[in-house]
Amino acid sequence: MSQFPDGFLWGAATAPHQVEGGNVNSDMWHAEWAKGSHFAEPSGDACDHYHRYPEDMTLLADLGLNAYRFGVEWSRIEPEEGFFSRAALDHYRRMVGACLERGITPVVTLSHFSTPRWFAAAGGWSNDAAADRFARYAGRVAAHLGDLVPWMSTFNEPNLVSMMVHIGLVPAAARDEPLGRSNSTDPEPARQSDSGAAWPSHSVDVMATAHRKAVEAIKSGPGDPAVGWTLALVDLQPADGGEQRWRAVRQSALLDWLEVSRDDDFVGVQTYTRERIGPDGILPVPEGVATTQTGWEVYPEALGHTVRLAAEHARVPVLVTENGMATADDDARVAYTCAALGGLAGCVADGVDVRGYLHWSLLDNFEWTSGYQMTFGLIAVDRTTFERTVKPSARWLGKVARANGLT
Ligand code: NOJ
Repeated sequence: MSQFPDGFLWGAATAPHQVEGGNVNSDMWHAEWAKGSHFAEPSGDACDHYHRYPEDMTLLADLGLNAYRFGVEWSRIEPEEGFFSRAALDHYRRMVGACLERGITPVVTLSHFSTPRWFAAAGGWSNDAAADRFARYAGRVAAHLGDLVPWMSTFNEPNLVSMMVHIGLVPAAARDEPLGRSNSTDPEPARQSDSGAAWPSHSVDVMATAHRKAVEAIKSGPGDPAVGWTLALVDLQPADGGEQRWRAVRQSALLDWLEVSRDDDFVGVQTYTRERIGPDGILPVPEGVATTQTGWEVYPEALGHTVRLAAEHARVPVLVTENGMATADDDARVAYTCAALGGLAGCVADGVDVRGYLHWSLLDNFEWTSGYQMTFGLIAVDRTTFERTVKPSARWLGKVARANGLT
């Protein structure tokens, strides 16, 4: 049996826009309904998790899992600039309370891609006031929930666009384009990321400044949450002749961001696959190699590799905040997760300070521009009735959690 440390967090993750439903004040909602939208379908009612969270948390706890990563939605909490909804804040406090009642440790994300429409309309992250706006929001959330939340993350995958630019998935020009795309009816910008039109194509400096100010705001509130951000850590590997490019990409898409975490309490690692970098950029997955619904190579070794990278460069404890695969084959999900956890156990055995593993995702949910066809969930959701069906992979992960190791 592979052992994990006492108190290890075993759980699953979601993001508000992907599961709550009816997120009408967000830039994403707007982008989904814009003329020429590149979203396969709108998010609509999503999984109705906004109302069904008690049932979902009960399922999670009954499986034997002890942690839940979810997000609070800025566009609900501050639907107009400067108006903070007490009702929305209370809602999220109830969610945190519902976790604690069930023995679940809440891990709360403040920004998971979606932003309020007013924020996007004002230029989003490229507006000079963005960092202060975000920090003010973070401070309000911390004031309302901080006493009950042990783990808080400011941004989800702030490095994602940077990485996509550097590995050649989006044109280099995208990096410096103005933000706040959501109010544009031009469909072009929506092609630039897998989550749609309106989210940041910012530099590490812009996001690190917003992060730092938000951390300060959170730390001056009640409680003592561990604060960090969670990064998209694709396992980047050099192919023949690609070493120089790989080094440059790795630096600007991963290492520059990991170094920001040195002043944090932890770093969130989010890993799904590897990408191989040739002299001209990312190489296609070779013929015959198994891929997921998202077209990514099935490569569970990525988790161990990137956790080691994160620990080495961030030099703070690691929390795996996402890992998983989009597949209709639940046995394949178990096989992937088992292999990934084997790699993670190897990290622990080598002394890497890993605090938990949160699978993506608790529910089959809205996979951004791909809509509902990509099924990452441990629990299926009927698209008409919202009925939940626990998959065997969820029960398997629950067993691993109860044993605190692979049997
Ligand atoms: C990372 C993102 O945080 C999440 O929103 C997304 O659904 C998963 N990756 C899968 O693509």
